[in-house]
Amino acid sequence: MEKITLPKGTKDIGDPEIFIWYHVENIVRKEAAHFHYIELRTPLFEQTELFARGVGEETDIVQKEMYTFLDKGGRSVTLRPEGTAPVMRSYLEQSFHIHNPRMKYFYMGPMFRYERPQAGRMRQFHQFGFEAIGFQSPAADAEIILLADRIYKKIGLKNIRLEINSLGCKKCKPQYLEALKNFLRNQAAQFCRNCSNRIETNPLRVLDCKNASCQNILHSESFPIIQNFLCDDCLTHQNHVIGILESAQIHPVINPYLVRGLDYYIKTTFEMKTEELGAQNAIGGGGRYDNLSDALGVKGIPGVGFAAGMERIILLLQKQSESKAFFQKPFIYLSPLDQQGEDVLLRLSIVLDENSIPFHLDFSDKSLKYHFKNAQRMDASFIIIAGENEYQTKTYTLKNMLSGEQKVVSQTTLIGDLLEAYQNVKNT
Ligand code: HAM
Repeated sequence: MEKITLPKGTKDIGDPEIFIWYHVENIVRKEAAHFHYIELRTPLFEQTELFARGVGEETDIVQKEMYTFLDKGGRSVTLRPEGTAPVMRSYLEQSFHIHNPRMKYFYMGPMFRYERPQAGRMRQFHQFGFEAIGFQSPAADAEIILLADRIYKKIGLKNIRLEINSLGCKKCKPQYLEALKNFLRNQAAQFCRNCSNRIETNPLRVLDCKNASCQNILHSESFPIIQNFLCDDCLTHQNHVIGILESAQIHPVINPYLVRGLDYYIKTTFEMKTEELGAQNAIGGGGRYDNLSDALGVKGIPGVGFAAGMERIILLLQKQSESKAFFQKPFIYLSPLDQQGEDVLLRLSIVLDENSIPFHLDFSDKSLKYHFKNAQRMDASFIIIAGENEYQTKTYTLKNMLSGEQKVVSQTTLIGDLLEAYQNVKNT
C-alpha cells in the first residue's frame, strides 16, 4: 500500500522544534497582555467574499493562492490566507464600531496560501498578528511597529531591518498612480507579461515583481517616488510615525517600493526584513487599512496592524541562536526496574507534579543502560531508579547525572532534597 505523506507545503512541528515555538508563543502572549491587545480567535475558514473584497480581487492572494471550495451546502468558503480581514469582519459583525469603536486585538494561528513551497514559504503557515481598530492617530501606527520591534527583540532575533513607506490616501494616491502609470507605460514593452498586464489595472503590483529585469527598470532615476506626491496630511502622518519611532531608538529606512501584496493599505506600510533567509526575507509586515471597512460595507473605520510569519521567525532563530536553549527538559528521569518500581514511581510522579518539578516517567520493559542513555539524551539532572528492593525498603536510588554520584535516599527526605536541588538549578 502506498505510504500516506504530508500534503505539500505543510509540516509536522514536534520535538525538538516545538520548544522554540513555545518560546515564541509565550513572548507574543506576554507582550500582548502588557500592551493590552486581546486575543480574538476567528474561524479557519470564512466566506470567500470576505477576502475577495477585503484583500482585493487583483491581488496574487485572491487570484492565485486561496484554498477555495464549495461546502456541502453549495456555499463558497476559503481557508483564511491572512488574519486582518477576519478580525475586521468580526469587529463589524459585532457592531463594535457603534458600541465600543476602539479595539485592540491579537491572534495567532495557521493561515493557508497555495504558493510554490520552499524554505520559509509554506502552504499552511502560522502568523501572529496585532490589529488596532478605531484609531486614526499616527501614534497607533508607531505603537504597532514598536510592539513588533519589542517582540522580535524579546524573541532574540538580531539584524532586522525595518522598512517603511506611505501609500498616500484617497486624496493623493490617484495623482501618484497616474504618474506611476505614465512611467510604466513609457517602458511597457520591456516589462514581463505579468507586469505589462497590470499597468492599467493595478500598477502598484508591478513594484512587487520579483523579475530582475523589471526591478532594473523600476530602479531607474525617472521612477516617480511616492513621497513627492503625498498630500500634507499623509506627509505629516508619515513624519509623525517616523519621529515617534526614532525617539524610541527604532530607525526605519524609507523604501518607496514597499507596496505590499494586499490592497487594503493606505498611508503607512512597513516590513521587517532579514538578510539571512534568502528570497523569503520578510519576517513580518503590516500597515494602515482605513479603507478595509468600506470594502466590507461600513464606511470609515480606521485600522492599523501587522502580522509576522512564525516559520520564518523560527528559521531565523535557529540560525542565530543555540536551539538547545529553548528545550524544556525533565529535571528528573524516573526509571522503574519492574512492576513494583512502576507502582512506586507512578505515585512519586504525583508528588513531583504537586511540587512543580518536571519529570519523565519511562516504563520497565527496557534495560537500565537504555534508561541511562535516554535520561542523558533528555538532559535530565537526576535519575531515580526503583524496583522491588526500593519498594520493600521504602527508598529510592538517586543518581546525579552531572556528578555521577549515586545514593539511596528514604522516601521521606527525597522531595525536600529534590526541591532544593531544583531551586538551585532554576536560579543558575
Ligand atoms: P503578509 O505580508 O501577507 O501580511 O504576511 C505577513 C507575514 O506572514 C509575512 O511577512 C511572512 O513572514 C509571513 N508569510 C506570508 N506568506 C507566507 C507563506 N506562504 N509561508 C510562510 N510565511 C508566510 C498579512 O498577512 C497582513 N494581514 C498583515 C497585516 C496585519 N496588515 C495589517 N495588519
